[in-house]
Amino acid sequence: MCGIIGYVGKNPVAPMLAKGLARLEYRGYDSCGFLTINNEFHHLKTVGKVSQIAGSVSEASLPGTIGMAHTRWATHGGVTETNAHPHFDCKNNIAVVHNGIISNYLELKKGLQARGHVFRSETDTEVFAHLLEENYDGNLENAVMASLRHIKGTYAFLAAAKNENKLVCARKESPVVLGISDHGVFIGSDVSSFLDFTNRAVYLDDGEMCVAENGTYRILDAKTGAEKIKSEFAVDWKPESIGKSGYPHFMLKEICEQPTTLKIAKGIYAEEVRMLARMVSEHDTVYLIATGTSMHAAMIAEYWFAEIAHKRVQAIDSSEFYQKGIINGSTLAIAITQSGETYDTLSAIRFAKERGARHASIVNVTGSTATRESEIAILQGSGFESAVCATKTFTSQLMILLRLALETAKAKGRDVSLLENEIEKLPAVAKEIIDNRENIRKIAESGFDVSNYIYIGRGLNVPTALEGALKMKEISYLHAEGMSAGFLKHGTISLIDKNTHTVAFIPRDDRKILSNIEEIRARGGKIIAIAAGGTTHADVVIDVPAVDDLVSPIPFTIASQLIAYYIAAKLGNDVDRPRSLAKSVTVE
Ligand code: G6P
Repeated sequence: MCGIIGYVGKNPVAPMLAKGLARLEYRGYDSCGFLTINNEFHHLKTVGKVSQIAGSVSEASLPGTIGMAHTRWATHGGVTETNAHPHFDCKNNIAVVHNGIISNYLELKKGLQARGHVFRSETDTEVFAHLLEENYDGNLENAVMASLRHIKGTYAFLAAAKNENKLVCARKESPVVLGISDHGVFIGSDVSSFLDFTNRAVYLDDGEMCVAENGTYRILDAKTGAEKIKSEFAVDWKPESIGKSGYPHFMLKEICEQPTTLKIAKGIYAEEVRMLARMVSEHDTVYLIATGTSMHAAMIAEYWFAEIAHKRVQAIDSSEFYQKGIINGSTLAIAITQSGETYDTLSAIRFAKERGARHASIVNVTGSTATRESEIAILQGSGFESAVCATKTFTSQLMILLRLALETAKAKGRDVSLLENEIEKLPAVAKEIIDNRENIRKIAESGFDVSNYIYIGRGLNVPTALEGALKMKEISYLHAEGMSAGFLKHGTISLIDKNTHTVAFIPRDDRKILSNIEEIRARGGKIIAIAAGGTTHADVVIDVPAVDDLVSPIPFTIASQLIAYYIAAKLGNDVDRPRSLAKSVTVE
């Protein structure tokens, strides 16, 4: 899981690579590197974030109009300058950057070493540079085709040869998209890498290669070399939408966008939602496959389908799908994935497809692999989310899933008009919470220094509690656990003391959780209640508008996102780029 960007064209490449790579930092930020070709190779590498090297990236240090760059999230080999990309062959004539994992690299490395190749790094990527060296006869695309025959695993490679004014790219199970402009061609891990320069894009699919030269490109079948014609599409995200717009962090900006993103998710793709609802009602076994925050959306939806549509669906962590799924022709597998590129989720969907299941996806990123591989893809329309932790995209996933449950209920002849009215209120409810964020900031900042947080909820707010705790862990690095309020008694309550805060989600009409709160108070624990309609049983109460209990995960989540954000910001953490995390995990 890393980010790559390349450009071949007429304009000076260094500043464009720096800007594009900064957009890709969400994919990894242990170390980074740049390379340009201008009669010879020029390169820079560093440990740390793109911003740490940005001052040294200039037309003087990296001259030319052809180049590539990489931001790394280490998988093979520690975080060192030597392990940062690009990697080179023995003679420094060939350079590569790579996103993915070469699973047979040890075996390949042994063979290459036996044939005299000298390795500098501990990475799996470097074997590809040496393979290219062995297969290079003056034509880089032929060398790439020949070398790929030996590679097992996943990859988005960009390769350059010192003597050729081109970049060659190949892809298998790691994303690559081309950006087409009047002055040249970009090759990036996603559209944000070139959106500052062009919104015209072409996706590369598995098994394809791209040769970019003379400001244009050719797409080839990586096995046969046959040329392919693929259509362009226009990316509808605006470059300004990928900036901070005056907010101190992307995360706060994205939290505050939720009144708008909920409104969009409330209305879009009505026909597709109805089609998918019909598929849900026609299938005996329906799985919601997701991981991370998206898995929490799937878990909440499991309750919605049961309560609203009287339909049993099962949320499964995509990395566990192989173990748990019963898959055949009467199975429907729905992937929920913000990026549409998460390796485990894509693999689970492919696994289901191979066994005859029908498949669909709910995705944020237009044109991502999940959208292209699904029978039906519902786009949630949240716009670009830059902060590593998901906020607005989570509540939009919830909105789409809620609509799907409602349409499934309607397909079964149930009257759900009351809940449909409730959905209409959600953008305004989100706005009210966000407008009240100063109050949440004061609360969060007044007790931020405890090292343990427990999040509790009941029913469909158990996943709300898991998501609240996940957000807290991701960005504050404080210990946080989410669970059902009932389960707390069976072990975790032994942790409760004055250094452990409990965040409790209290819906309007289900107050059973109040007895759990009393148990915590009796043991000296401090309670922060996020309550729809107020409660007097907590030390601190964050009031959210009193919505129907069934939709309460949306306002509860927005309030808990703000708590986690303000605590992490107060602690001085890098909220948008938390340590060890990446927004899109494109490796197994
Ligand atoms: C990473 C991100 C999470 C995200 C998860 C699943 O771990 O840091 O925020 O929820 O991947 O991503 P997806 O794009 O499939 O929703």
